[in-house]
Amino acid sequence: MRAKLIVANWKMNGSFALIEAMQKVLSPILKKTTCEILVCPPYVLIPSMKKTVEGTRIAVGGQNVHSETAGAFTGETSVLLLQECGIKWCIVGHSERRILFGETDTFIRRKIEVLLKHGIRPILCIGETLDQRESDNHEEVVVTQLGKGLSGLAVEDQMRCVVAYEPIWAIGTGKTATEEQANSMHQLIRKELESLASPEAAEKMQILYGGSVNVENAEILLSQSEVDGALVGGASLKIETFPQIVAAGG
Ligand code: PGA
Repeated sequence: MRAKLIVANWKMNGSFALIEAMQKVLSPILKKTTCEILVCPPYVLIPSMKKTVEGTRIAVGGQNVHSETAGAFTGETSVLLLQECGIKWCIVGHSERRILFGETDTFIRRKIEVLLKHGIRPILCIGETLDQRESDNHEEVVVTQLGKGLSGLAVEDQMRCVVAYEPIWAIGTGKTATEEQANSMHQLIRKELESLASPEAAEKMQILYGGSVNVENAEILLSQSEVDGALVGGASLKIETFPQIVAAGG
């Protein structure tokens, strides 16, 4: 049985005040939920967030990392710093990084490797554009991104990765994939993982759905057999309702 993982991706949002507020509203839920909860704030907030949630079941993650460990890379953050902050998870290959910052599958793969080498679990985001879905290429695109991210890694390393299926047309648009669309893509991803890793590994690996997850659709999405959690953007900033999304995971 795979534990459900709910990831809050704050993107370039949030504040010191939101950290306190989020911790307060999540506290009562922590006693009831069996979900793993991970909050990924902007880098600057990480130490403060770590301190605030210390001793609770809320984990703190990174939104991105550079593939090199140090050097002249203005504006970037090294895996060594994430490690020093006690970070155990980091998102990689988010479509905003791929599209707005030109990140390639090759660069993303190097980030996955550097994270694994430093004991941080990558959350690999993959997903198709609207054009690709409408031209019926979505499965091929997703399978290719998955393969470029994970093929050839040792099975133990593959098992430390989480996959997040995020159709680009659903991110920040209010258009969510239907539960059938999400579940059938997750099924395909798991089938691919069987050959990329092994059937046993595929059975254990978490596959998250992301793209306009909100308080209205969380329950139906999270109840799908192949959906092991959610990567939540906009709705993770709403302190009044984010706890209900966590609760929807059981
Ligand atoms: P959204 O973002 O929930 O605002 O659509 C999800 C994501 O980009 O991870």
